[in-house]
Amino acid sequence: MDCKAFVEQQVDAIRRAVGDGLAINALSGGVDSSVVTVLGHRALGERLKTVFIDNALMREGEPEFVVEAFAGLGIPVQRVNARQEFLGALAGLTDPEEKRQAITATFYRQVFGRLVRETGARFLLHGTILTDIEETVAGIKRQHNILSQLGIDPEQEYGYGVLEPLQTLRKDAVRELARHLGLPPGITDRIPFPGPALATRIVGEVTPERLATVRAATAVVEEELADTQAFQYMAVLLQDKATGIRDGRREFGDIIVVRCIHSIDAREATIVQLPWAKLERICQRITALPGVNRCLYDLTPKPPATIEYV
Ligand code: XMP
Repeated sequence: MDCKAFVEQQVDAIRRAVGDGLAINALSGGVDSSVVTVLGHRALGERLKTVFIDNALMREGEPEFVVEAFAGLGIPVQRVNARQEFLGALAGLTDPEEKRQAITATFYRQVFGRLVRETGARFLLHGTILTDIEETVAGIKRQHNILSQLGIDPEQEYGYGVLEPLQTLRKDAVRELARHLGLPPGITDRIPFPGPALATRIVGEVTPERLATVRAATAVVEEELADTQAFQYMAVLLQDKATGIRDGRREFGDIIVVRCIHSIDAREATIVQLPWAKLERICQRITALPGVNRCLYDLTPKPPATIEYV
């Protein structure tokens, strides 16, 4: 890919679309939204307001990591507390597509709608990539960030326009672009993490308690597998429970699945053959978490599985 030409084209397109108005963008710290943030700042400077939406679904230490990384690049990021809005929208939901829809509505109608009204921005800059569009259009999974491809006109529905500079690229090309733009390796080489965040790693209802469990398991898995060079690794909390023994007593506890995959662009995935000792260590650490008494390693490639569980 000719990164220089791509950047020039997109910066120009953003400038033309926004004119002398304002735009906002939500930075999650993933490589896609990070690249969009840098493109947007090159195009608009201070007329782009970058926010980090604290949706209560993020990994441990995520807001601090993101705000600091971008402060280092001279890009201010405002933290927006939307925890109760997301937790409220997800309460009681167990169906995967209903959960995804609730997250989409909370992001676009409630939170961005409010930010757009407060800031006077007319555009939202978005990190949608080609794989997100393809899977949604194919009916496999409704990616949280897909709107117009599902017949949703954001202008009419939410009152702002959406610009998607990365919509022709896949993950490998986005990483190349991130390196070209001078983003630090802590961001360019970050494993993918979905917009709906830990909600995609909880089968069944998303509650603060269940989030705490999957968040702690995620921290263990990310720490243990950071040296694998794998495309993506994760911990998933199942809805089922299993009988176990803790402190000599019966416990009907939680089940965590660990997944670690190779992939080029997330369209297909194969399983990483982790060393047995590593798997055992992860199992010990995960079953030491409160209420978790089983840890499983998922051997299923994509297809037939998808990468995430929800
Ligand atoms: P699946 O589970 O569809 O995931 O095989 C493919 C890749 O996309 C990520 N993913 C998402 N990313 N919004 C995103 O920004 C979403 O709604 C979403 N769902 C899945 C997933 O982590 C994997 O890398």
